[in-house]
Amino acid sequence: MNFLEERIVKDGVVKSGNVLKVDSFLNHQMDISLMEEIGREFKRRFGHKQVDKVVTIEASGIGIAAFVAKEFGVPLVFAKKSKSINIDGDMFVAEVESFTHKNKNQVIVSRKFLHEGEHILIIDDFLANGCALQGLISIADSAGAIVEGCGIVIEKGFQIGGRVIRNMGYHVESLAIIDAMDAETGNITFREQ
Ligand code: G4P
Repeated sequence: MNFLEERIVKDGVVKSGNVLKVDSFLNHQMDISLMEEIGREFKRRFGHKQVDKVVTIEASGIGIAAFVAKEFGVPLVFAKKSKSINIDGDMFVAEVESFTHKNKNQVIVSRKFLHEGEHILIIDDFLANGCALQGLISIADSAGAIVEGCGIVIEKGFQIGGRVIRNMGYHVESLAIIDAMDAETGNITFREQ
């Protein structure tokens, strides 16, 4: 097991409905030493690529992506979620549907912060159905930016997102891929990588 899988086993809580709570160390209370380690690990995995910017989506992605951006020495841009349909032409916009929350958000990035020909690394905390990643990829496409890869902290391998994004040809690196989890026993099965 790698450092993240060990931490998930120690402090993650499996809830019914295939939900993994990691709010004691990842997406509510954050363990900053762990964030630093995550930042270093993504640098190790994507360090051979050109990365001009790290891109994520609010809210939970931001804290993690900040440590990745620090490792690469580049800016972090986060897409904002917006309910408003009144978005002016200064923004790149994509629609993102959340299966977990059963709602739709528009995600927006200002045209000031994403440019044609920029190489970006997308970072997010969870990859489940892949809607958030597809939204970010669509915004990158609108900008003419080049997606060098997607770094995910926890991929739920039994949901379709990872397969869909890899089949689109993107390089996805997930620090932990969960193939199964059991709310009754608390057991978590990680994919061998
Ligand atoms: P998708 O983006 O991969 O399609 O995921 P989905 O719509 O299924 O998930 C919606 C939200 O739920 C996302 O956060 C995602 O990170 C989160 N999520 C999905 N599965 C789990 C899980 O097992 N545990 C936890 N803790 N979160 C999960 P969000 O609400 O869009 O973002 P944020 O504002 O919380 O960052």
